[in-house]
Amino acid sequence: MYKITVSAPGKLLLFGEHAVVYGQPAIVSAVDKRLSIIVEEVTDSQIIINAPEAFDTRFIDAILSQYSITKGLRITTASAFSGKYGFGSSSAVTVALCKALSELMGKQLSDQELFQQAFKIISQVQGTGSGVDIAASIFGGTIFYQKNPLMIEPLAPDWNQIAFVVGYSGIKANTVEIIRELKQKHDKEPEKFAKIMNAIGSLVNQAKESLTENDWERVGKYMNFNQEYLRDLGVSNQKLEDMILAAKKSGAFGAKLSGAGGGDSIIALVAMDKKTDVENAIAQAGGEIVESYIGSEGVKIEEII
Ligand code: PMV
Repeated sequence: MYKITVSAPGKLLLFGEHAVVYGQPAIVSAVDKRLSIIVEEVTDSQIIINAPEAFDTRFIDAILSQYSITKGLRITTASAFSGKYGFGSSSAVTVALCKALSELMGKQLSDQELFQQAFKIISQVQGTGSGVDIAASIFGGTIFYQKNPLMIEPLAPDWNQIAFVVGYSGIKANTVEIIRELKQKHDKEPEKFAKIMNAIGSLVNQAKESLTENDWERVGKYMNFNQEYLRDLGVSNQKLEDMILAAKKSGAFGAKLSGAGGGDSIIALVAMDKKTDVENAIAQAGGEIVESYIGSEGVKIEEII
């Protein structure tokens, strides 16, 4: 009986969330926290899904229907990260399962083909999204991403020089709802909205240069500017702001929310010798520190039996 295990990483948005939905570039990094999926053939007339993580099983259902599979499989997931942190568990599960089933069917998809397939599933289930999370899960590392025309450009900052501290706010964000609210704002004040989105886009381009040069002070400044724009868009909240302020006061080069906002996590860019100070300050502001390293590898087959 065939059994395949595939793992895919979670992600953190370093720059450009939301603006990326409107066609601007973003920078995303895969994290070392991975989600694994095991697909086994079983002599059963059903599909058995054992997904203890509280992620949305609609993604799994949509993939099974795409592959016209109705029986004879057991699908089990195991995740090193909770769905609540905003690390992109839906994208990771979608990528890992598409990869596992395509292998099972004897179709070895290229990364680009896997991207198109996973993007179609996410768009079908969520009705929205830029695909940036999927790119991180498939390609890994740090990516400069744009939706249309599609651009997936690997960046190579020296992450060994620096630390990222991740603080979870304790509030689970509803990405789809936040994107919908922003769309309403966009439709009400299209010019003001376009100005902010364009400003984020040019900031992301500058941040890309600073990252490539490992100029951490400038990277931190761009994170702070990006956070100001996200605040203007109305996607920050008091808890996130408290943690961000605490991180900056205790010596971070910069800090911002990461992902949709309204909750989830913040990231702070920190010199190695300030890491503990910044972690303590974020914890004091009520954040839960999520130990994570960025720039890890993309989707991979762990085992085939
Ligand atoms: O999945 P989240 O909550 O990390 O948000 C991803 C970033 C957004 O730009 C808000 C949405 C998207 O699809 O790009």
